Amino acid sequence: MRMEYAEAYAKLEKYGQLHVLQYFDELSGYEKEALLAQIETTDFEVLKQCGHKAELNPRGVITPIEVMQLPEIETKRERYTQIGLEAIKAGRVGAVLLAGGMGTRLGSDAPKGVYNIGLTKDVFIFQRLIENLMDVVRMVDAWIPLYVMTSDKNHEATTSFFKEKNYFGYDPAYITFFMQDMAPAADYDGKVYMEEKYRMATSPNGNGGWFLSMKKWGVADKMEEAGVEWLNVFAVDNVLQRIADPCFVGAVIDTDSVVGAKVVKKSAPDEKVGAMCLEDGRPSIVEYYDMTPELMEAKDAQGEPAYNFGVILNYLFRVKDLEEIVAKKLPLHIVEKKIPCLDENGMPVKPEEPNGCKFEQLVLDMIHELDSCLPYEVVREREFAPIKNKTGIDSVESARELCRQNGIEL
Ligand code: UTP
Repeated sequence: MRMEYAEAYAKLEKYGQLHVLQYFDELSGYEKEALLAQIETTDFEVLKQCGHKAELNPRGVITPIEVMQLPEIETKRERYTQIGLEAIKAGRVGAVLLAGGMGTRLGSDAPKGVYNIGLTKDVFIFQRLIENLMDVVRMVDAWIPLYVMTSDKNHEATTSFFKEKNYFGYDPAYITFFMQDMAPAADYDGKVYMEEKYRMATSPNGNGGWFLSMKKWGVADKMEEAGVEWLNVFAVDNVLQRIADPCFVGAVIDTDSVVGAKVVKKSAPDEKVGAMCLEDGRPSIVEYYDMTPELMEAKDAQGEPAYNFGVILNYLFRVKDLEEIVAKKLPLHIVEKKIPCLDENGMPVKPEEPNGCKFEQLVLDMIHELDSCLPYEVVREREFAPIKNKTGIDSVESARELCRQNGIEL
């Protein structure tokens, strides 16, 4: 039974959101139903955090963490690769593509993976990722289960694109799509924006809920039944992303680590990437905006910067630990974003500048819930070409140049 108007009214009143019903009388029967259903399933509790950004996630004591660096990896490459290949071939490793984000900085309405970075031919971001994964599929001569997280905003566009492109040659039996949850998006006073007169503005609730969503969709159970013990979680926007990298998988298994995190040497102390560290003695990631001048200047015993390795959103999680992590509440992050909404006259606007807050949980916070983490260095120029913007740093332009350097035809 759907929520009745009176109940919806009471819920909104409790959270100071009665403006959501402002246009109710002019809505069609279908629209009224849709809005009541959205009110019923929306968690307004997060909106209370709007004015409390500063005290939301207090940080513990940050100290350096040991990173497995390139020279050490080289000496053990053969052994690790062998261990990794065995695990992958046996079907014990799956891959999770986080593709639920909105990619607002790129400025395209389509899912980010649909973006074409080709110059002389089509090279879609999704295609680059599949091609990279296929390198390993060919090595082990077995398909690697791939789970793709989408959101309400891009699910249809993503699944139909994959279908239209024939999954870029991947066996569709090994690709499973699932959707993440949405969170309300609000102005700076915590008032939820309306996207339409019958719909509140919502945005994907961050990349931290991926395993919970896999469970919700029944994907996690099937995966565990299939014998998957490790999940390599990765971002959609790094077109040089190595997925199910045998040497990385082997290193994490061989060192008895609970999770592995691929890291690169930071290009500058203030580079906008999260740096691996220990926080109150547990593995953690200090975000670039939490990097104090002291942390940026700190040196290790060798005189190298102590927080010199940035995460690239490529983690290998042990499935049995994920069950425990999801039971805990990850911290909530408030992110300022451009939120399309209705103005005071009920007309749609597409803001040029950030106009409010979205609420996200982040995959990097999962690391802090685990007892051990292996930060594993990779060669930056070979594995890290993120596309966040159209031009400049971390852009389509810089990623194209890195593809060229790696001999990838565009
Ligand atoms: P970003 O933090 O770069 O966010 O995502 P975004 O939404 O893609 O881009 P902007 O900030 O709006 O420009 C890092 C990775 O996490 C995924 C993204 O798809 C990307 O792979 N992600 C992000 C999700 O899967 N869900 C989310 O809610 C947010």
